[in-house]
Amino acid sequence: MIKRFTFGNPVNTDAVVVNDYKEAGSDEPLPFFKEEGDGTLIYKMTPDDRIYGLGEALHGINKRNHVYESWCTDEPQHNEDKLSLYGAHNFLMVDGMKDKFGIFADDPGRVRWDTGEEDRDILKISFSGSDRYIYIITPDDTHYAMKDISRQFRHIIGKSYVPPLWAFGYGQSRWGYKTEDDIRKVLENYRKADIPIDMIYMDIDYMDHYKNFTVDSEKFPDMKNFVSEMKKENIHLVPIVDAGIKEEKGYEIYEEGLKENRFVKKEDGTVFTGAVWPGRSVFPDFLNRNTRLWFGRKYKFYTDMGIDGFWNDMNEPAIFYSPEGLKKVTDKTLEIQGKNLDIDSYFEYVGIVSSIKNSEEDYRRFCHALDDGSVVNHEKVHNLYGMNMMRAVSEAFEEEGIKEDTLIFSRASYIGAHRYGGIWQGDNCSFWSHLKLNFQMMPSLNMCGFIYTGADTGGFGWNRNEELMLRWLAVSVFTPLFRNHSAMGTKEQELYRFKDIQGVRNIVWLRYRLLPFIINEYMKAVNEDTLMFSPLSFCYPEDPRAWEIEDELMLGDNVLLAPVLEEHASGRYVYLPEKMREIRFKRDGNVEIAELSAGDHRLQVPLGEVVIFTRENFRLSLCRPASNVAELDMDDVTYL
Ligand code: GLC
Repeated sequence: MIKRFTFGNPVNTDAVVVNDYKEAGSDEPLPFFKEEGDGTLIYKMTPDDRIYGLGEALHGINKRNHVYESWCTDEPQHNEDKLSLYGAHNFLMVDGMKDKFGIFADDPGRVRWDTGEEDRDILKISFSGSDRYIYIITPDDTHYAMKDISRQFRHIIGKSYVPPLWAFGYGQSRWGYKTEDDIRKVLENYRKADIPIDMIYMDIDYMDHYKNFTVDSEKFPDMKNFVSEMKKENIHLVPIVDAGIKEEKGYEIYEEGLKENRFVKKEDGTVFTGAVWPGRSVFPDFLNRNTRLWFGRKYKFYTDMGIDGFWNDMNEPAIFYSPEGLKKVTDKTLEIQGKNLDIDSYFEYVGIVSSIKNSEEDYRRFCHALDDGSVVNHEKVHNLYGMNMMRAVSEAFEEEGIKEDTLIFSRASYIGAHRYGGIWQGDNCSFWSHLKLNFQMMPSLNMCGFIYTGADTGGFGWNRNEELMLRWLAVSVFTPLFRNHSAMGTKEQELYRFKDIQGVRNIVWLRYRLLPFIINEYMKAVNEDTLMFSPLSFCYPEDPRAWEIEDELMLGDNVLLAPVLEEHASGRYVYLPEKMREIRFKRDGNVEIAELSAGDHRLQVPLGEVVIFTRENFRLSLCRPASNVAELDMDDVTYL
């Protein structure tokens, strides 16, 4: 059952779209929580309670004992000391010894979740504003309570996005492909190495001076032709589109947007300026319907060229600096010129320089004109910006009748964005901890509706090595979004560059062989509002060992994943909650099957191999591999 409680005068976020909940009476107290005067919610946990959810967030599957902040943030260096990532997803479940419930705080401002850092027995939720809806969800099925709560929640937030079939293939990306020829070479090398591929991504370098809806005609002299050349090879080119629009006289989108009042403004009515890749930029007011229509329709620029896939970026929005912020730094720099800085003055200066990026002051500087005519400061609705950028695009595709054939995913998101497209897990690094994070984040994202998701395979920042890449591939082989992406300046990581070409090839081939199964599980999760990836505890709630497992997941109802997530490991221990079949995809493409009893096992997992476990009576379908999804015959399957 779901009950909605109203506090103050909340903005309509469009996170909840199905009215299948009861409205609480105006003086009805919130169950489970004690409310403090400032709206803070306190829940007393017992020592063994587990916390799940929060979507794109750090730490493990069980979210207990940390602080998280819902605040969409451009945070590439996200180590354990960070509170926020690119998405802000306010849904959390308590799997408690005394209570089991879910809470969704529909509040697009900053929300702080202390799951036991300050006091390990207290769950404390604090809000920066006073207007919100709170949904409390209690299970109808008390045995599979977590599955049931998340299913009820998913039902009210609407069906998740389904991408075109080819978007389940493998994609290669790098911030650094500058010309048509760079991209041709990538494809040629994939073909030579006999590794399947469906997508090649175009990062900001395809644009003319990082201006959205432009192409640098020196690097891409005939984009339309190039798109069709690639299509003949069954390759989809997927360009990036950023949130900021370059502030430049004569740039059509900028001029038109100014004239038509499309950009966010400061309280004094002047257009807000902040710098991103193109330097000074302005930001479309995606929270306004007319602006969304205007912006979304601009994608015709690309779709007319035959482009059918997009990633939306920098839409937290990321702001490197504003003129006001930069002035603070330049003033201070002049002031300290020639001075001997001591410990205090040096750190004060460093603090000022680093504070101007994605600064709270800047986020407070501008406002949005909502559809109901009201004007709201950005700070109150920050977490809606990225979602509404993707919504603009998705709605335009729907209007044009091309939504089902077009891939779209975003970096920033709020709950509700899952209806418009997918998300990737933002900038990560070639760290073992980020591989683990990628794996652990899958179920929490599913709980919030995001099924088309995955991380930058191999890591975006920093340098990969072959062992990390092979282990990462063995995780991404199951994630709906399977994209290898890396940053300029890092060691290149296209798969054909690795010495163990048989190892990498085997895993990508396996992806294509598994697609009938992966897509089937994907569609089940979408149609039935279930999780594609679940913690073991959701499927085996009666098994206390399963409660603690942080490095295994269920894929659908029948497949258990236990990838190697540690460095220098020839294998790992796996816990099986019941008797299962081990299916080993060998490096040479052969499959070995063994029966394993319930309990603990030590496995050897050589690099380039993938091992999964299936429940009794489950038949895994495999098709014959192909070089891309278009050539795959998904009806011609064999069953294991
Ligand atoms: C951001 C994106 C990253 C992209 C880069 C350049 O950091 O998250 O994926 O490569 O910008 O566009």
